[in-house]
Amino acid sequence: MSGLPRVCVGGPQRGTMRGMDILFLSPGYPAEMPLFVRGLAQVGARVWGVGDQAKEALPEEARRALAGYLPVKSLWDEEATMASIQNWLGGRRPDKIECLWEPGMILAAKLRERLGVAGPTVAQTTPLRDKVEMKRVLEAAGVRVPRNGRARTRQEVLTQAERIGFPLILKPVAGAGSDDTYEVRDQAQLEDALRATQHVPEIIVEEYIEGEEHTYDTVCANGEVLFENVGWYRPKPLVAKLNHWISAQALCLKDLDAPGPAKGRALGRAVIQALGIRDGFTHMEWFHTPKGEAVFGEIGGRPPGSRLVHVMNYACDADLFRAWAEATVHGRLAQPITKKYNAAVVFKRAHGPGQRIRAHEGLDRLLERHGEHVANLDLSPVGSARADWKKSQVGDGWLVVRHPDLGRTLELADEFSNELRVVAG
Ligand SMILES: Nc1ncnc2c1ncn2[C@@H]1O[C@H](COP(=O)(O)OP(=O)(O)OP(=O)(O)O)[C@@H](O)[C@H]1O
Ligand SMILES: [Mg+2]
Repeated sequence: MSGLPRVCVGGPQRGTMRGMDILFLSPGYPAEMPLFVRGLAQVGARVWGVGDQAKEALPEEARRALAGYLPVKSLWDEEATMASIQNWLGGRRPDKIECLWEPGMILAAKLRERLGVAGPTVAQTTPLRDKVEMKRVLEAAGVRVPRNGRARTRQEVLTQAERIGFPLILKPVAGAGSDDTYEVRDQAQLEDALRATQHVPEIIVEEYIEGEEHTYDTVCANGEVLFENVGWYRPKPLVAKLNHWISAQALCLKDLDAPGPAKGRALGRAVIQALGIRDGFTHMEWFHTPKGEAVFGEIGGRPPGSRLVHVMNYACDADLFRAWAEATVHGRLAQPITKKYNAAVVFKRAHGPGQRIRAHEGLDRLLERHGEHVANLDLSPVGSARADWKKSQVGDGWLVVRHPDLGRTLELADEFSNELRVVAG
């Protein structure tokens, strides 16, 4: 690892005179990671990647931005990974250790502790990974969270269900992507959900919250919110997950002072404070109930996936991958980032019996009508293989429409949801 100097001293010039050395876990995966790595390099950091991809398999963008890369056999063999990293560093210590991929966040915290690097500890990171612990901390701080309980056995699920009452949600304590998540409205559905989740080691049984589902996303530095976003899922991710015919949308809203988003911001800021989050991206999900209450859903100490950072970029005409890097390296943004548009991403899933994309029906007509409002169009090309809609959030392509007026943005997004058909044959 040539280049990373053997310095273990602090001091004010550190990081300004010679640039910052950042160890970045999994720089090539998921899809957005190379863009964050590029951002760090652009703002003057040297980025040292560790991942379980071969160097040759890294996306070009990541490879170009990295100062060095250590391939490991499996990131999830934590002891072996930490030993390889220590060996690679040979006594050198990076200024920061970053991981923006949820499953690697505890590993990043363990590494910080082992190498004596500042940043979130294991104890501070655990509530961000364990949905029961997360809600316990927040409830103690007075945040409105769904009633919930942890269950490891059938009897424990039944006991929690009895205590909380229908309707319920059953989901894994450490879940992602709405996998193994069930809405339960009566005893029969509870039995079905129990059968379907037998392989899940730990379940959280939760009060079902009716209402619209939103996000609250931030970039923070030194405990200060430097950028914030309120998103809106249409429909709820669980509904999109279960219904193939739906072209799911996620919006980034322009007016954060409108009554709904303002409630989400207040909730989000209380949550960040209660969890003691100081730096980096945060991604919270919350419910806006028919009575107008904002109820906490979950939070990750990482950026949102599913192209939402791109959507923020289109809403602001900015580069939030780089803005995160500025916050991480310099503790501030180069310039304030504000919303210019409402921006909506629409995810397309192919229809038809075949395994290859055959046509993008309706696209020409829609572009002719609304082309000026389309900020991005990235559909799987005709002839390419169809995605597995159950596994892929992006599916067979995505596009972004944007407009300063929210009503108009919703109309545009709905037209692309309903009238653009990706056909597989
Ligand atoms: N208490 C609840 N009330 C109503 N719906 C819920 C509740 N909990 C979860 N859901 C639905 O299930 C989805 C998945 O749940 P959740 O966001 O907690 O888990 P996840 O799989 O970790 O999601 P992500 O992919 O965002 O990490 C939510 O987006 C929401 O649509
Ligand atoms: Mg979620």
